[in-house]
Amino acid sequence: MKRAKELPPFPEGWYFLTDRKTVTAKKLIERTWMGEEIVIWCDADGNICVADAYCPHLGSHLGPRAGGKVRDGCLVCPFHGFEFDASGKCVATPFAPPPPNARLKLYETREIAGMIFVWWGFEGRPPQWRLPDVPQGPDWCSIGYRRFRFPGHPQETAENSVDIAHLLYVHGYDNVYPNGEVEVDGAYLLSKFHFTRIRRIANIWKMMNDVDAVTHVHGVGYSFVEVRENTIEMDLRLWVLATPIDGREIYLTLACQVREIRKPKRFFMGLRFLPPRWRAPVINQFMLTNQKLDVAQDERIWSRKRYRTTPVLSRSDGEIGLYRRWCKQFYPERETRD
Ligand code: FES
Ligand SMILES: [Fe+2]
Repeated sequence: MKRAKELPPFPEGWYFLTDRKTVTAKKLIERTWMGEEIVIWCDADGNICVADAYCPHLGSHLGPRAGGKVRDGCLVCPFHGFEFDASGKCVATPFAPPPPNARLKLYETREIAGMIFVWWGFEGRPPQWRLPDVPQGPDWCSIGYRRFRFPGHPQETAENSVDIAHLLYVHGYDNVYPNGEVEVDGAYLLSKFHFTRIRRIANIWKMMNDVDAVTHVHGVGYSFVEVRENTIEMDLRLWVLATPIDGREIYLTLACQVREIRKPKRFFMGLRFLPPRWRAPVINQFMLTNQKLDVAQDERIWSRKRYRTTPVLSRSDGEIGLYRRWCKQFYPERETRD
């Protein structure tokens, strides 16, 4: 039974679904997202389409497991062969002209660096803000991904970006301090902090990281962290993307890319012996593996915790109160109800 004080499961916002490469390779993908069944495909012009997975004709599931397929950029229903284009319109059927009002429900998408985000609006309303672009360039390696699935909520996972005490206690960071105030502006929240950390490599080497991180949060599903590692002078971009599945579990996707390191300031795992173009991808995999360990530390807390509407905070908690007030805008249903 739903507890009265639980967070509503689907806050309004942009949520990561998949990346363009995966859609192109698989042609048609089916997913459960925000408690709905959806399908994702790419039309002949490269438009990514995200639609309700049930056919408006007689309700067949359109996903590949039911037999749905993509032909000439159109989604073809497995039941009677109706074809839908990138606008969701039925453009052909095998035996008769397409019914003029046969149309799939489509979701608004946004692509950033090949990552596909989909808008979830209160009562289906259109996007209330835009996700800013993150320009790519030849000096950034391609984005690597790691995906996790566990019981959780995107507000709870994003809360860690202002929860300074957990960085010390759960992850063992040191010298953690904010680099300025947490700022909010509409659906945007900016948080900057510094930390140091000792990493052990294969239990033999110790490596000290001295890090400045700037976290840009655009709604609770999208956290983008710009990381400057000062010891080896490395720039890294990390996305932490929480996507509700069914109201109980979420996907948490880490996406990461490293800027090419031309002159490593310090000996770092034999980096200097690698050709420059290999350094960033190798480090990217290393960073993803490390971040995966961080998520594992968080996950056992996230997946068992219970949301406290009135937490008893201490002085070392940072801006959790501010964060929670900022989050209220993502539940317009509560505002209209209260
Ligand atoms: S149910 Fe899709 S074409 Fe009939
Ligand atoms: Fe964490």
